[in-house]
Amino acid sequence: MRQPMVAGNWKMNGSRKANEGLLAEVREALSSPVEAEVVVCPPYVYLPQVAGLVDGSAVRLGAQDVSDQDSGAYTGEVSGEMLKDVGCRYVIVGHSERRGLYAEDDAFTARKFAAARRHGLKPILCVGELLEERESGVTEQVVARQLDAVMDLEGVESLKDAVVAYEPVWAIGTGKTATPGQAQAVHAFIRARVAERDAGVAEGLRILYGGSVKADNAQELFSQPDIDGGLIGGASLKAADFMAICRAAVPAD
Ligand code: PGA
Repeated sequence: MRQPMVAGNWKMNGSRKANEGLLAEVREALSSPVEAEVVVCPPYVYLPQVAGLVDGSAVRLGAQDVSDQDSGAYTGEVSGEMLKDVGCRYVIVGHSERRGLYAEDDAFTARKFAAARRHGLKPILCVGELLEERESGVTEQVVARQLDAVMDLEGVESLKDAVVAYEPVWAIGTGKTATPGQAQAVHAFIRARVAERDAGVAEGLRILYGGSVKADNAQELFSQPDIDGGLIGGASLKAADFMAICRAAVPAD
């Protein structure tokens, strides 16, 4: 049985004060525990602060990105070792904003995935198609290409300790959610693609949905058989919404 996961991707939001308030509310809400593994991914500079704020709670820490390099002359970069050092367990790689706004391609994303693993971090690999790709019927080809880049470089076993997040780009921050049926179809495709290489890895792989998940649509999405939780942007910045989404994620029978 796969434990569901709900990860909050704060993107470039937060402040010391806002983070304190948000985590105080989340911790308070978790006095009544949830079945999902709960992860928060603040901006780099707040990782040490948030590590302190979640200490002793069930909330896990993740980063939003990682360098493909390990150390040295890479101005502006942050290594997996540093993320591990400040308490991260997870790191998002290949978010569509990295791919789209910062031209990070499949090969580069795969190298970041590898770097995360070298330092004992669990990657949350984001995949997903653009609107024009969906409209021209190539969603599966795009997702397969993004997934294969990682499996070709690191092997299918590398997905054992990883998480995949399916995030249709047209649904991110737009208020347009994929229907549960649309999302389930791509999640099932991802699991089948991994199963072609290793059925056991595919069965255990947690596949999250991301893209305008809100308190009022989470349950329907998460009740699909291949949707194991969510990667939450906007709604992860409000404790009540985030916690309602966390409560909606329960293991499939
Ligand atoms: P959203 O973002 O929930 O605000 O659509 C999701 C994401 O980008 O991970």
